[in-house]
Amino acid sequence: MYKITLIPGDGIGPDITAAVKKVIAATGVPIEWDEQLAGESAVESYGTPLPETLLESIRKNKVALKGPLTTPIGTGFRSINVALRKEFDLYANIRPARSYAGIRSRYENIDLVVIRENTEDLYAGVEHMVGEDAAESIKIITRKGSERICRFAFEYAKKNNRHKVTAVHKANIMKCTDGLFLEVARKVAADYPDLEFEERIVDNMCMQLVQKPENYDVLVAPNLYGDIISDLCAGLVGGLGVAPSANIGENCAIFEAVHGSAPKYAGLDKANPTALILSSVIMLRYLGEEDAADNIEKALAAVIKEGKSVTYDLGGSAKGMEMAEAVIAKMS
Ligand code: NAI
Repeated sequence: MYKITLIPGDGIGPDITAAVKKVIAATGVPIEWDEQLAGESAVESYGTPLPETLLESIRKNKVALKGPLTTPIGTGFRSINVALRKEFDLYANIRPARSYAGIRSRYENIDLVVIRENTEDLYAGVEHMVGEDAAESIKIITRKGSERICRFAFEYAKKNNRHKVTAVHKANIMKCTDGLFLEVARKVAADYPDLEFEERIVDNMCMQLVQKPENYDVLVAPNLYGDIISDLCAGLVGGLGVAPSANIGENCAIFEAVHGSAPKYAGLDKANPTALILSSVIMLRYLGEEDAADNIEKALAAVIKEGKSVTYDLGGSAKGMEMAEAVIAKMS
């Protein structure tokens, strides 16, 4: 029996997490969910968006499935998503982008995975005003941070039968920071002679991804480029409604959809559960439950292809839970 922390989250979060729970239950993988509040919904009960009981639960269970959390804009508390990544040192962000027949997009047969460094770079938050009319932000890249994300990307490629890793950088301009990242990527690549290794400057990478996405496989990038490129890749396969993600650290992992809490659909069971279902598929693979993961993924692909029991954003009129039930009906 696995014990996993479940954060239903804000807005559409409770609807889509309920749908995912039902799909996972149908696989027969025994999971005891430890439900925890976070974000806006936690403020009412605990007076904080990041209660200690939640942190304690993740510390203990080491695996969490998370619904989206609302972050107030401009004022209020800082992003809980970023706080959780920092608290548990979840340094690797996995963002797969795969085409599904039945989802409108400009390309077919795309199967890319972006591995984004999640803790360093311009996102370290070291920035300040210089007087009133200038501002400075410090880009932090370390050998340790680069080594562990590059090694993670190559190990991921090896384990998932991928053939190529492309390192994304701007080392021609940022010779110290991106230069260090690239130097480390080349060294790590030398330990994996069976995998092809390529380097791309980030601007060229964006153009290539739009022109010939089929030429790429696993991409590894520092935080900022990884953030941008992974959304670009989500756009190549039909947008955020179908974009899953995983945040992985040495001891702990949090799985979540890429999209936000879509507050206007809260409580209506209108939202598409696909991205969170696909995130739970990555979670099941992380747990070693490959058969259950394959079962869900195939059934979901069939439901999307058929197009009868899909949510509004995929051109259908099904409720989120109805789509989940259609997935269950197609499982073997
Ligand atoms: P959003 O992703 O919630 O919504 C963008 C658009 O996509 C909206 O039109 C929404 O209705 C639609 N959409 C999103 N998910 C959908 C789904 N599953 N099915 C169907 N349609 C879907 O982004 P937005 O509006 O920028 O942010 C809303 C809130 O979510 C903000 O407070 C933001 O900070 C938070 N957020 C949280 C994230 C997380 O917890 N990981 C990630 C991104 C945003």
